[in-house]
Amino acid sequence: MKGIILAGGAGSRLYPVSKIYSKQLTLIYDKPLIYYPLSILMLGGIREILIISNKETIPFYKQLFNDGSHLGLDIKYEVQAAPNGIAEAFIIGSSFIGKDSATLILGDNIFYGYLDFFYNAVKNNEGATIFGYKVNDPERYGIVEFGPDGKALSIEEKPKIPKSPYAVPGLYVYNNDVVSISKNLKPSARGELEITDVNKEYLKRGELRVERIGRGVAWLDTGTPDALLQASTFFGVIEERQGLKVACIEEIAYQRKFISLESFRKVIDEIPKCLYRDYLEKVYDNVKES
Ligand code: G1P
Repeated sequence: MKGIILAGGAGSRLYPVSKIYSKQLTLIYDKPLIYYPLSILMLGGIREILIISNKETIPFYKQLFNDGSHLGLDIKYEVQAAPNGIAEAFIIGSSFIGKDSATLILGDNIFYGYLDFFYNAVKNNEGATIFGYKVNDPERYGIVEFGPDGKALSIEEKPKIPKSPYAVPGLYVYNNDVVSISKNLKPSARGELEITDVNKEYLKRGELRVERIGRGVAWLDTGTPDALLQASTFFGVIEERQGLKVACIEEIAYQRKFISLESFRKVIDEIPKCLYRDYLEKVYDNVKES
């Protein structure tokens, strides 16, 4: 299974920061936004990862993650020249995907809580597995309508009159057909290759599973300054209360056995003195003592 993080987009709602770099680099509490989706892929056991962004921002990601080998990952980078839609990720990433299946996560999507819904999808996906999450403002998202048997009946992109409150989050698990499906898409009225059209094609083929995510999982929005503030506060509260960090990719790399204890030590040694390092030192000491 390959993983793709699409971290492009104009992000104009976050001007003036968006004048300089893409919003996935903005700080959510104590780390850049992109750490959160990256950690989800890592938790799902996905180690070959492609980051797609605009050409101005890719150097920043390279500075952050390099080739990922220090985390036991293999990270590649590709440019999306213009915001041509989410499904373009599978065209840009087609040689990276090769004959594999692929999970796509949007670089501004944050999930927190029990992730079994995702782990099961990575393990058991056949055609496509996407998710449904109840929201208050469904007209802003891709919306899935369920029949009485719980199966998906329809999917619509940002409908004016939503048929259900179930939004489709930016986390999608596909078999290899996603590449050819994406290549055959026509741009929508807003000029984009829509991920919703990919999902509609799987639905038409009878190969789409839509799993509902329960209310115990937080799927957070990061589209506006207010939403960013709320997400920062949310993780600040959790981290402060538990003394555990969320989306700490170095810790996850060690806990998921992507790297040895020795490599974990080296990673910590590279980090300047700061609270983030103090936390990792504590994790390291706990392992040593146990
Ligand atoms: C995109 C997708 C939409 C999905 C959403 C999740 O919306 O088009 O189907 O529900 O991501 O974040 P956009 O980022 O274009 O608003």
